Amino acid sequence: MKPEPAYSYCLLTGSGGGMGKALVKALTEESFPVAAFSRDSVSLDPLSILPPRPDFIWQFSVDLSDLERVDMLLSTLLASWGPPFLVIHNASVLFPRVPLWEEADMHVRQTLRVNLEAPMFWVSRLTPAMIRAKRGGHVFVSSTVGREARANWGAYAISKSGIEALSANLALELPAPLFSFTLNPGAVATRMRRKAYPESDPANPKSPEWTAGILARFLEGIRDMDNGRTYNGRRLDLDRLLEEGNV
Ligand SMILES: NC(=O)c1ccc[n+]([C@@H]2O[C@H](COP(=O)([O-])OP(=O)(O)OC[C@H]3O[C@@H](n4cnc5c(N)ncnc54)[C@H](OP(=O)(O)O)[C@@H]3O)[C@@H](O)[C@H]2O)c1
Repeated sequence: MKPEPAYSYCLLTGSGGGMGKALVKALTEESFPVAAFSRDSVSLDPLSILPPRPDFIWQFSVDLSDLERVDMLLSTLLASWGPPFLVIHNASVLFPRVPLWEEADMHVRQTLRVNLEAPMFWVSRLTPAMIRAKRGGHVFVSSTVGREARANWGAYAISKSGIEALSANLALELPAPLFSFTLNPGAVATRMRRKAYPESDPANPKSPEWTAGILARFLEGIRDMDNGRTYNGRRLDLDRLLEEGNV
């Protein structure tokens, strides 16, 4: 039986700013309940007050590099609400762009931890319950530099290339109708974009709100048509989806 949309909630990381924050708003406007994770200390620490079903927005405070706390939060969510329909791995860090041999060890470690190890951890914790529920999928927010080599993107590029490998491998292993795909949003005017191009931006970035609106409709379509498997293993590009009229 097809699940009722209201109970098909999604989990989203990196909701404190940029595209993640805009996406939470856009998804809830599309009636897609969201459990959103950010480092924002004013977010709830709601473990004792979860309702029996997810209503529209739940904000959870967590640093994704704290895998022990992530584990505890995810276990509580799974026990209370069951598996999500979508997991949107959006949070990432980007440190100042330098040649690989100049990147600080601490920045390398933090980048690989947040951008790659954390999503792998979420996959390992959430996927078994999604398989048992026979529905749902992972959406990994990727980047052009994870798909082709470009100078001076350091550990960030390597983490995004790892995300591409993670999604591709997961897609081969997931039983239908589950799915996994990567999505490159293209240039979006966020804090990360300003960090990447502090002087002058070679592109004309889209606003996070506009981008999030398009993405939310795309993801809502997947939920309503239950067609996520069509995208399994794909490397999607938002600008291309727009050009082709698919969003
Ligand atoms: N903007 C672009 O042009 C562009 C292009 C290609 C791909 N992307 C991808 O799009 C996604 C969204 O990026 P964005 O542009 O919106 O960047 P952003 O404005 O810098 O947002 C990144 C989010 O990740 C969160 N985050 C970072 N480290 C975290 C940690 N340890 N624990 C929890 N949350 C953490 C940040 O939280 P805080 O607010 O607490 O710091 C922030 O909310 C990323 O995956 C990025 O790689 C962006």
